[in-house]
Amino acid sequence: MRILLLVHGFNSLSQRLFVELQRDGHELSVEFDIHDDVTREAVASFRPDVLLAPFLKRAIPASVWQRLPCLIVHPGPPGDRGPAALDWAILHSVDTWGVTVLQAEAAMDSGPVWASSEFTMRHARKSSLYRREVTEAAVETVRQALARLEAGERPATAHAGAHGWQPALRQLQRAIDWQQDDTATVLRKLHAADGFPGVEDVLLGRSFRLFDGHREQRLAGRSGSLIARRHGAICRATRDGAVWIGQLQPVEDGRCSFKRPAAVALGQLAQDLPLCEDDSAALGNDAGLSEIRYEERDRIGYLHFDFYNGAMSTAQCERLRAAYARARRRPTRIIVLMGGGDFWSNGMHLHCIEAAASAADASWENINAIDDLAQDILCTDTHLTIAALQGNAAAGGVFLALAADLVLAHSGVVLNPHYRNMGNLYGSEYWTYLLPSRIGAERAQALMAGRLPIGAAEAQSLGLVDAHAGPDMAAFRALVESRAATLAAEESFARELAEKRARRARDEYVHPLSDYRSAELERMRLNFYGFDPSYHVARYRFVHRAPAAWTPLHLARHRQLGGADLGAAAYR
Ligand code: COA
Repeated sequence: MRILLLVHGFNSLSQRLFVELQRDGHELSVEFDIHDDVTREAVASFRPDVLLAPFLKRAIPASVWQRLPCLIVHPGPPGDRGPAALDWAILHSVDTWGVTVLQAEAAMDSGPVWASSEFTMRHARKSSLYRREVTEAAVETVRQALARLEAGERPATAHAGAHGWQPALRQLQRAIDWQQDDTATVLRKLHAADGFPGVEDVLLGRSFRLFDGHREQRLAGRSGSLIARRHGAICRATRDGAVWIGQLQPVEDGRCSFKRPAAVALGQLAQDLPLCEDDSAALGNDAGLSEIRYEERDRIGYLHFDFYNGAMSTAQCERLRAAYARARRRPTRIIVLMGGGDFWSNGMHLHCIEAAASAADASWENINAIDDLAQDILCTDTHLTIAALQGNAAAGGVFLALAADLVLAHSGVVLNPHYRNMGNLYGSEYWTYLLPSRIGAERAQALMAGRLPIGAAEAQSLGLVDAHAGPDMAAFRALVESRAATLAAEESFARELAEKRARRARDEYVHPLSDYRSAELERMRLNFYGFDPSYHVARYRFVHRAPAAWTPLHLARHRQLGGADLGAAAYR
């Protein structure tokens, strides 16, 4: 089928559907929902069999849905309606939730139902549920809906259901009462508003939106008071315990700025808070908030790094590098780089860079810190390393993964192995060495220039990933553990390590790693300090969530075909 994805933005769910439906043999094009006329024009030029809307914030024009099947992906069970479905589900602590694919009609989410599915809720942030359970369910539900549409079936009439219309949530309804709410309630409120819009609150006399809440196990204090800081996060006492808050979005004169680590947002004010010990130095730790965590089994070390949104600031890279060095000193054979549950890595921390006094200097420091980490992984001659991608990776995060000896991915992972979407950023992380070595120079160039997301299966066909497994996380963990165990076995470990050392020595002789790095950084220096401000403009727009003004050509394939004006009048 010819499927037009109409989206507010090309977000993780839209990207996942894009790669999955392409794999199913459908022909896809993407249009951003910018203006009704633009939507009509896209429909007229692409002439899709169906319009699919996985992530929309406005209604589809009537002249489009009246003539073309338009399928809406709603993150709620049949009968649930409204723009804050998951927020309400978290606040009401429901046990199961769902995804419904329904046909667009005049009233929001009220059309007949093509398909639906259910999933078990997890105590997690809204954004995490969206990236995992909702996305997995949506892929299957959209597949079912398309199969029924292709078979000439009709959608079922929608019934009101148990939930019905649930309105958008106002900040007053989200507000935390620090004197009355217990820790579970505070976390529920934070989770229901994360990653957007956050919970508005006042800290040390200033207004912020709060994100990234975690339960603290030991600390306590006077309800509502700030009692500690650790790395970027601050700890606030509740009625019966305490929570860590990792991210704050300053609100000034009623206007929201952008998110950043809490300690960065509070600046000097945070420095007066007592510093809480760093648990990540220990082994087998997890005390409420541990971005970096290490565990060990059967001569295999598992290094977890669960950074918010997969973004890695200079300080986070340095801490991870120190943790990696500690892992290397253990009497193990394999180090598995686990990343986080939602993301493996998205490269440099663009929000921290934006918040810095000099964005150019901060970019330079951040890329060097991530390069140092990549170099340590690449030059590890004591262990074999595995990058285990439980979640998505993008830009520098993908190439950091390629520094490992083996790359394994969950089947649902979407990779964006390119930098150019960020204002023509050249990129570093030794990509000029790692990418061609894995997939060849020609394919490397095409991948970088294509700027498209790819799925785990396509990444494996390309040679970017060595194996993938899913759909449930248990299957992926089983793959990781069995591949690690095979490599750790006496004979294969000695052989593989010897081969790795020989390969690295040979490559170093032909072209030293330091040369790759300095050539890449020369280009990055131009991106950061040169005359062309594209990277700074793109980063500003990305961090400030500036709305798109047009659909990039690499996504709007109907525009590449040059058919923009064909038959547009038919949809007016
Ligand atoms: N630095 C800081 N924040 C980042 C980030 C990064 N490198 N990558 C993603 N994020 C944040 C986004 O700002 C967004 O923040 P929010 O919580 O305020 O909404 C959040 O992660 C989710 O990002 P979004 O783009 O909405 O998610 P997605 O899953 O739909 O798309 C990506 C994922 C990775 C394709 C997209 O975020 C991206 O292109 N990131 C930038 C990658 C990059 O250029 N890195 C720097 C070069 S090494």
